[in-house]
Amino acid sequence: MKASVYIASSVDGFIATPTGDVSFLEELQPPNPDEGDLGFAKFLASVDVLIMGRKSFEKVVSFGRELWAYGDTRVVVWSRGKVDIPEHLQTTVSYSSLCPKDIIAQLEQEGCTHAYVDGGTTIQRFLEEGLIDELKLTRVPVLLGAGIPLFSNAGNKFALQHLETKAYSNGMVTTSYRVLNNETARETARDERTD
Ligand SMILES: NC(=O)c1ccc[n+]([C@@H]2O[C@H](COP(=O)([O-])OP(=O)(O)OC[C@H]3O[C@@H](n4cnc5c(N)ncnc54)[C@H](OP(=O)(O)O)[C@@H]3O)[C@@H](O)[C@H]2O)c1
Repeated sequence: MKASVYIASSVDGFIATPTGDVSFLEELQPPNPDEGDLGFAKFLASVDVLIMGRKSFEKVVSFGRELWAYGDTRVVVWSRGKVDIPEHLQTTVSYSSLCPKDIIAQLEQEGCTHAYVDGGTTIQRFLEEGLIDELKLTRVPVLLGAGIPLFSNAGNKFALQHLETKAYSNGMVTTSYRVLNNETARETARDERTD
């Protein structure tokens, strides 16, 4: 099963302020770049499940029912505890405390083919275990100075293959990468040697 990240950060690599505020995502002028949603609807249509950290889930729920951006897409909230799921989301949202590899394995067994992984710590843990295949990162033209980091300094090294970069009129820049984890990197090196 493929797993992808689709996320926006400040140029200095923060996805939210230290208190979890994400209003910097909305403060740009002009607010709507050339392609309104930065390809989000197309990306969302390509996934069959969203694995979201509990803190990110609580944040989006706090925005209110009308701003739930994921439609009927299945969502699995990652938490070690019990997650309060609002009644209107109970048909599509569940929660899991399984480790990243086991969540992916279980979803794969259930027929899922493409997972969207979201939330700072959540992305970091899945990435560290070599479970992320693609990163679609939007850099928002602001330096926050401090905040919740997109990436950890856990020390894992991954080569990234650049796929596409798109710059928008309001200064946002979206870049997509394929993650070459250790196994893939070894295979790529082997392929290159035999070319
Ligand atoms: N800029 C953007 O595009 C963007 C996108 C997404 C999110 N955000 C922001 O990022 C912030 C949240 O990110 P975050 O890094 O603080 O948290 P997060 O990744 O959303 O959620 C972290 C939670 O994941 C659960 N978790 C962690 N390790 C686990 C494990 N081994 N097993 C089971 N569950 C585990 C824990 O839930 P429990 O504590 O319940 O155990 C932990 O508190 C919010 O402010 C959100 O608005 C921004």
